[in-house]
Amino acid sequence: RLGPMLADHLGVPVDHLWFGGGGANILLCVTLSTTGPGSSVVYAHPSFLVYRLSTAVAGAERVEVPLDGEHRHDIDAMIAAVRDDTRLLYVCNPNNPTGTHVPTSEVLRLLDAVPESVLVVVDEAYHHYVEADDYWSMVSLVDERPNLAVLQTFSKIYGLAGLRIGYLISRPDLLDPLRKTQLPFTATNLAQVAAVAALRHTDRLAERIETNADGRAELVQGLKARGMATADSQTNFVFARLHDDPLAVTEGLLSRGVIIRPTGTAWQRITVGTPSEIAEFFDALDAVVSGVGSP
Ligand SMILES: Cc1ncc(COP(=O)(O)O)c(C=O)c1O
Repeated sequence: RLGPMLADHLGVPVDHLWFGGGGANILLCVTLSTTGPGSSVVYAHPSFLVYRLSTAVAGAERVEVPLDGEHRHDIDAMIAAVRDDTRLLYVCNPNNPTGTHVPTSEVLRLLDAVPESVLVVVDEAYHHYVEADDYWSMVSLVDERPNLAVLQTFSKIYGLAGLRIGYLISRPDLLDPLRKTQLPFTATNLAQVAAVAALRHTDRLAERIETNADGRAELVQGLKARGMATADSQTNFVFARLHDDPLAVTEGLLSRGVIIRPTGTAWQRITVGTPSEIAEFFDALDAVVSGVGSP
């Protein structure tokens, strides 16, 4: 039942959908099916870690293109990074861990510039949270583009991360060869039933999106009030420069029961919580920063 229901929800034929045990499972299969030793994969850095991991598993070469000064995908640099041996290019839109988005016109420019022999996967795991009006999902364009696939998941706005179910949307002639590296039985019955239930309640999404946008604005405002720089987030997390000693801050927060995502740099990822969680985060942050010293 999930296939027809999701197809209806997305406005695509059911043969345009491929399900997997989470989007990460699909990303691995896509990378394994399209690349290998002697080929390369282009994606932004920092971005979703699975692009790097799956490229390593496939034995392909990773071509990591630094984000620009605003923590956004550098589309010109990504186009320039495509080589003769490039078979796959990931666009994480909006991007994890920075929360920044690529305007749709820029994704189209990239699709126009990249050879058709390069599969472009636009990862829209967080697309529901985007409020920028120059962004929209690429799902409706998969029939018009010969090398476009779109990844989405039930793990984010639908809250089913623990059940592991995601999907790739593309034309059947592109999907078929991509599926060859997927073992059978990866999307469990339980996950499918949960996804069907989630799709029956899409009327609740608007409220979740609004709650997230309010929490995100509060988080950004609080960070800015403390003189901490933030990237423009369109997701359910905020990328911020909390302190020059990020490890001390991460550990200090952890000892107070607050978990944030370290990135190995001064910039860290903070997930949007409920109003009381956000208040708790700022209390803990203030205590930790006053102990460690000013940023
Ligand atoms: C950008 C991005 N894409 C895809 C995924 C995959 O999510 P899942 O494997 O839970 O469907 C994630 C999860 O963190 C993500 O951040």
